[in-house]
Amino acid sequence: MNTSTPESSAPLTQDQLKTLVGQAALRYVVPGEIVGVGTGSTVNKFIDALATIKDQIKGAVSSSVASTQRLLALGIPVFDANDVQELAVYIDGADEIDGQGNMIKGGGAALTREKVVAAQSRTFVCIADESKLVPVLGHFPLPVEVIPMAAQRIMRQFEALGGRAQIRLKDGSPLVTDNGLILLDVRGLQISDPLAFETEVSQWPGVLTVGVFACQKAQVCLLGTAQGVRTITY
Ligand code: 5RP
Repeated sequence: MNTSTPESSAPLTQDQLKTLVGQAALRYVVPGEIVGVGTGSTVNKFIDALATIKDQIKGAVSSSVASTQRLLALGIPVFDANDVQELAVYIDGADEIDGQGNMIKGGGAALTREKVVAAQSRTFVCIADESKLVPVLGHFPLPVEVIPMAAQRIMRQFEALGGRAQIRLKDGSPLVTDNGLILLDVRGLQISDPLAFETEVSQWPGVLTVGVFACQKAQVCLLGTAQGVRTITY
């Protein structure tokens, strides 16, 4: 465990905790290499920090259109995942992380590309504020990216597991992901065996990606706490 003390005694806001862990993640970036970059408000802090050392890296592989736009705007080259064999490190946030490094991801709708980039990375470093640490995954609605024609059947399959699935909307219409598909958000699940759950749901016809990251779990979590950045390794 590695703990640093914040400078002010006033409680840090969630935004300040995100900034802290985003900056702390810089120590995992390997000079001269390409870094895997996730998606979300915490990762945006990391991207901003990464821009300060952009001359020391080759560039990034990005997990979403939004992160790509932010990286490019800050002058960080973005490589196609197909043009890179293996990444030393992938930095991303999470909606929930448990005591073993399993996560729920996809609150920002980027779960599929996040899983793809995580899969080609040797080390997953999760950056999160302490509200994300949970004993059991499932309080956060589980995102699942699906093919539209399979949505209703998959929703019934989740009902059979005790979940309540809804299609994620944006401006009153189904949100369309970067991959042109739609998302379900499933409430009411208690995911006590994330690896078994991910393995099963990933095989349901029409599921592109389930937002449980157990096969691609974190090896490190940089957790923003009132006492500073806590480093957890799994
Ligand atoms: C996006 C994600 C994000 O990592 C997750 O939603 C956490 O986001 P934030 O850092 O904004 O809390 O999985 O698909």
